[in-house]
Amino acid sequence: MAGMLEGKVGLVTGAGSGIGRETAVAMAREGAKVVVSDINEAGGAETVAIITDAGGEAVFAKADVSDPAQVEAAVKVAVDTYGALHLGVNNAGIGGEANLTGDYTAEGWEKVQSINLDGVFHSMKYEIPAMLASGGGSIVNVSSILGLVGWAQAPAYVAAKHGVVGLTKASAIEYAQAGIRVNAVNPGFIDSPLLRSAGIEPEGDLWKHIAGKHAMGRLGLPHEVAEAIVWLLSDAASFVTGIAMPVDGGFTAD
Ligand SMILES: NC(=O)c1ccc[n+]([C@@H]2O[C@H](COP(=O)([O-])OP(=O)(O)OC[C@H]3O[C@@H](n4cnc5c(N)ncnc54)[C@H](O)[C@@H]3O)[C@@H](O)[C@H]2O)c1
Repeated sequence: MAGMLEGKVGLVTGAGSGIGRETAVAMAREGAKVVVSDINEAGGAETVAIITDAGGEAVFAKADVSDPAQVEAAVKVAVDTYGALHLGVNNAGIGGEANLTGDYTAEGWEKVQSINLDGVFHSMKYEIPAMLASGGGSIVNVSSILGLVGWAQAPAYVAAKHGVVGLTKASAIEYAQAGIRVNAVNPGFIDSPLLRSAGIEPEGDLWKHIAGKHAMGRLGLPHEVAEAIVWLLSDAASFVTGIAMPVDGGFTAD
């Protein structure tokens, strides 16, 4: 049976870990050739190895999404290596400083915006022309439930993730008739290295508190977000554009 993304070429930023890695692996499973991009070379190489060991096709392109020139070069890797670009998953992100708005450092604010919001803009800026030249495409931007609701002590993250939803809607309208769909996913709290590096450890008090905010009473897993992203990327979602889709175990239903 043909995969959902057969014949497509995709780029995933932040694909060296967590949600990005699982997404790249799921895309390759569905037949896409994948450019695995990350600032972390070792993580990226590991993702490429997982894909190629399973018989898929992938190459690594190192890029810091906060630097437009590096993102442009990663898009060029897709076109130079595989001849096209049809799929973009703009996923690279950081948690950032945990602080009240009144105490938040300007540097911390800038850092989060430069990766979590500017990074998505840079990615789309270079993906879109490549997709137009490839006959169309599908973009999924990884926002968060914190792109839909507030959360204390994460003002930069919450603002950036709301910004990603706005950018998604604006560009979805712009390119709807040019054959490019643009959507966002809004994961709930997902058990990934990002979460653990923020000090949220399995079955600790904070973990349990957060789990309880999801109707399902648990955190999500990276592959559960990846499957939603693959669906949005695929032609199965051909009439879906401009949405911000919660993948959140019922967090935002409450
Ligand atoms: N884990 C969660 O609870 C959760 C919830 C909602 C949304 N998200 C979002 O999902 C995305 C992926 O997060 P994750 O949980 O898989 O985290 P993760 O830390 O496991 O993976 C993030 C990846 O992004 C890469 N990265 C960081 N800065 C970069 C930069 N400047 N340029 C390129 N790559 C960079 C890292 O090296 C890492 O490989 C992020 O945008 C995050 O905000 C995560």
